[in-house]
Amino acid sequence: MSNFENLLVESQAAVTRITINRPKVLNALNRATLLELERAVAELPPGTRVLVITGSGEKAFVAGADIAEMASLDPVAAASFARLGHRVLSALERLDAVVIAEVNGFALGGGCELVLACDFAVAAGNARFGQPEVKLGVTPGFGGTTRLLRRVGLARATQLIATGEPVDAEKAEKMGLVNEVVSKEALRGRVDALAATIVENAPLAVAAAKRSARLAAETDLQTANAYEQEIFGMCFATADQKEGMKAFMEKRKAGWSGR
Ligand code: CAA
Repeated sequence: MSNFENLLVESQAAVTRITINRPKVLNALNRATLLELERAVAELPPGTRVLVITGSGEKAFVAGADIAEMASLDPVAAASFARLGHRVLSALERLDAVVIAEVNGFALGGGCELVLACDFAVAAGNARFGQPEVKLGVTPGFGGTTRLLRRVGLARATQLIATGEPVDAEKAEKMGLVNEVVSKEALRGRVDALAATIVENAPLAVAAAKRSARLAAETDLQTANAYEQEIFGMCFATADQKEGMKAFMEKRKAGWSGR
């Protein structure tokens, strides 16, 4: 994988970890970082089954889009910046790999929107989530008015967007913005354990189940139910279905071929 200026990328077994690495500006997303993230996602090692996204330093996951860079944008450049953000976050959503946000501090504006594009999030107790864009005279631009309401409902989303006030990790968990809150010290270990559990499961089945759930979140129930039925049927064309069920009956651990 290529070198990056604003990202750290490590891969071990089937788990790749991308760390947004601009700690001096609390990992703010400028155009260059978004382009690197897009490239990192496109160039993920082929065997990647879980992608973890986190931020560098003690304070922040990502404190938003880069305000210093945005300050002088004209409307055309701003719309282009929003399109870039959406393109990158949509690419994350479409990955076969399960994407986990490891939220180690502030996840504000574009940072909260990055969390929302991940499949789920685990947060440290010091994490803070919010959409403070209105305090800067703008609206959320990377999905804060679209994915947020799908995750937490319209009323909670509107409260976050209109007040611009952050919520702590515990509140974010109650809202369904994050799945689990653990201590700062336990965060990486918990995410690694979840990643390892995912990797133990049948690769094609995990990827297909993720696609089915994503479709269900984005479309009407009947269409999603029809897709689920087809996907379930397709699983029976895989070697892993035969192996998984045989291993169960033989009371042994399955050995997946990913085929
Ligand atoms: N963009 C650029 N620089 C940022 C930044 C951002 N989003 N967030 C923090 N920084 C910089 C600060 O300017 C500061 O730089 P200097 O040391 O050079 O002054 C450095 O990071 C450390 O930040 P603070 O000194 O402010 O740290 P703090 O602990 O006092 O406060 C904070 C932390 C509450 C997160 C505060 O930094 C903050 O409010 N940041 C901005 C959050 C924000 O508004 N995010 C939304 C951006 S708009 C957006 O994201 C649009 C979109 O939807 C696409």
